[in-house]
Amino acid sequence: MAVEVLATADGRAKCALSQAHATAWFAARQAGQPISVGQASPPLHPSRPERPELLPPRDVPRRRPGSPQGRIALLHAVAHIELNAVDLHWDIIARFGHVPMPLGFYDDWVKAAAEESRHFNLICDCLEAMGSHYGALPAHAGMWRAASDTVDDLFGRLAVVPMVLEARGLDVTPGMIEIFRKAGETQAIAALEVIYAEEVGHVAYGSKWFNWLCGRDGLDPKEVFHDLVRRYFHGALKPPFNEEKRAEAGLPPDFYWPLAEDMPFAAD
Ligand SMILES: [Fe+2]
Ligand SMILES: [Fe+2]
Repeated sequence: MAVEVLATADGRAKCALSQAHATAWFAARQAGQPISVGQASPPLHPSRPERPELLPPRDVPRRRPGSPQGRIALLHAVAHIELNAVDLHWDIIARFGHVPMPLGFYDDWVKAAAEESRHFNLICDCLEAMGSHYGALPAHAGMWRAASDTVDDLFGRLAVVPMVLEARGLDVTPGMIEIFRKAGETQAIAALEVIYAEEVGHVAYGSKWFNWLCGRDGLDPKEVFHDLVRRYFHGALKPPFNEEKRAEAGLPPDFYWPLAEDMPFAAD
């Protein structure tokens, strides 16, 4: 099921399948007959639509958010992140089927994948209401790198994807909501507020299972986290951090602050 989602190129179709599979998973769980977790061979890269054109980050044009075009560009970038997130959550399920995990691990990522699918749809709805659509602008090509780099390391995947990248979303989303508030764009505000509320859960799932794995192996989670982020994440973590939401998601300051401070020369 996860591989089917990964192999679907169109964004709306990918998200529809993602939500249908999540519904089937939870219906089976409810009925006390969970779908068995098998092993799969997910593609190295998920299928993607022909548009947007994917460009290196430095070539993606930046626009000021003060204009309608700037706000469309911002939402387009968010849609691209959400579509990647759908794939990332199904990928962690398919990629690490050989690592025995409690059923709750799959519950969490299936739920998160369904939420990401809703996030993509909500942002696409906003773009369409503003006369644009996902695919109308170029997007960031490097977004799958964290997945490729951690393709055989579940600890590394959890450290970098939910606990670094999705946690970064908690830092930047309030500022984004403010941009749309100033412009009085209520549909985008409502969509971003859903995203902001649900992303806390995704970071929390990451830190929960990361801590669980470390506990299983008798490892110190903080030390392992620092090692893995230095190995797989390219650059320093950027303050200011949303300390409150990070705490709510089970990410203590001594996890992330040392990674911001010990790389003072990293480019902003
Ligand atoms: Fe999301
Ligand atoms: Fe997420």
